[in-house]
Amino acid sequence: MTTIIEALELGTSTLIEAGQPVPRLDAQVLLGHVLQVDRATLIASPGLLLTAEQERQYRLLLERRKRGEPLAYLVGHKEFFGLDFYVDKRVLIPRPETELLVEAAIKIVRALLANGLTPVLADIGTGSGIIPITIAVQVPGLPYLYASDISSEALEVARINCQRHSVEQRVRLVHSDLLSALPEPLDILTANLPYVGTDEKEILAPDVLGYEPHLALFSGTQGLDLLERFFKEAQQSGKLKEHAVLLLEIGYQQRERLVHLLSNLWPQSSVTFEKDYAGWDRLLKVVL
Ligand SMILES: C[S@@+](CC[C@H](N)C(=O)[O-])C[C@H]1O[C@@H](n2cnc3c(N)ncnc32)[C@H](O)[C@@H]1O
Repeated sequence: MTTIIEALELGTSTLIEAGQPVPRLDAQVLLGHVLQVDRATLIASPGLLLTAEQERQYRLLLERRKRGEPLAYLVGHKEFFGLDFYVDKRVLIPRPETELLVEAAIKIVRALLANGLTPVLADIGTGSGIIPITIAVQVPGLPYLYASDISSEALEVARINCQRHSVEQRVRLVHSDLLSALPEPLDILTANLPYVGTDEKEILAPDVLGYEPHLALFSGTQGLDLLERFFKEAQQSGKLKEHAVLLLEIGYQQRERLVHLLSNLWPQSSVTFEKDYAGWDRLLKVVL
C-alpha cells in the first residue's frame, strides 16, 4: 500500500530521471487528478493511502508523462483567462500569450456595444474554442459570434467547451477553410492560425512536436503561408465591413513580412503590434 507522500516521491524521482523540467509539480497534478483532489489537499494529507486502482492509474499517467505527453492532455483540461477548458490531442493546448488577443477583442466589443453598435465577430482557426468562448463569457451583451475551423475534430472539442461554459446558443460553430463558409459580413475577425515554420521544427519542444496536431502548428517553411492566404482572401472576399478590425496572433519574426503585405492589400489601414510577456511582437491589429 502506498501513501500520498510515497506516491509523490516516486513520481518526482521518475520524472527527474526522464528529464522533465517541473517534476514535483507534474507529480502533484497527476496524483491530484487521479484522486480528484486539489494540490493543497494532497499536501495536507501525506499519510492517506491510495487504493490499488488509484496507484495503477497514477503509474500509467507517470509513464505517459515520462515519455513527454503534455500534462494538459493527460488531465484533459487547461486554464485560460480564468476559465477551465476541456482539451485533448485533437486541439492545440491553449497558450497564455493568446490572452493578449482576447483582452484586445473584449475591449473593442465592449466599446462598440457601449456606443449602441452590435458587432459581428468571427474567430478563425478556433481549435478548442478558447477565444470566442472567453469573449462570449466576458461580454454577455454580445448576442452571438462565429467560431470556425477546418478541422471537424477540433470543432467537436469546441462544442464540448461551449456546453461547459453555457454559450452553445451564442457561439455558432462553422466548418470552414478560413473565411469561405462564413455566412455574413464581419466587423471583427480574431485568429490564432498556425504560424510555426517547418524550418523551425528542430527548435520546438519534443512535447509540442510529438503530441500537438501539426495542422494547428505548421504553415509552410516560414510559418507565413496561411497568414498570407488569410489576409489576401479577407481582402478579396467582400466579407469584411468597411471599418473592420482584424486581431491576429503572429510568430516572433513575422512582423516585417506582414507589414509589407498589409500595406499592399489595405494601404489606408492602421497596423499596430503588441508584444507578449517575453517581449516578442505577438499581437497584430489591423483597422481598415
Ligand atoms: C494555432 S491553433 C489555435 C487554436 C485556438 N484558436 C487557440 O488559440 O488555442 C490553429 C487552428 O487553426 C486551424 N486551421 C488550420 N488551417 C486552417 C484553415 N485553412 N482554415 C481554418 N482553420 C484552420 C487548426 O485546425 C487549429 O485548430
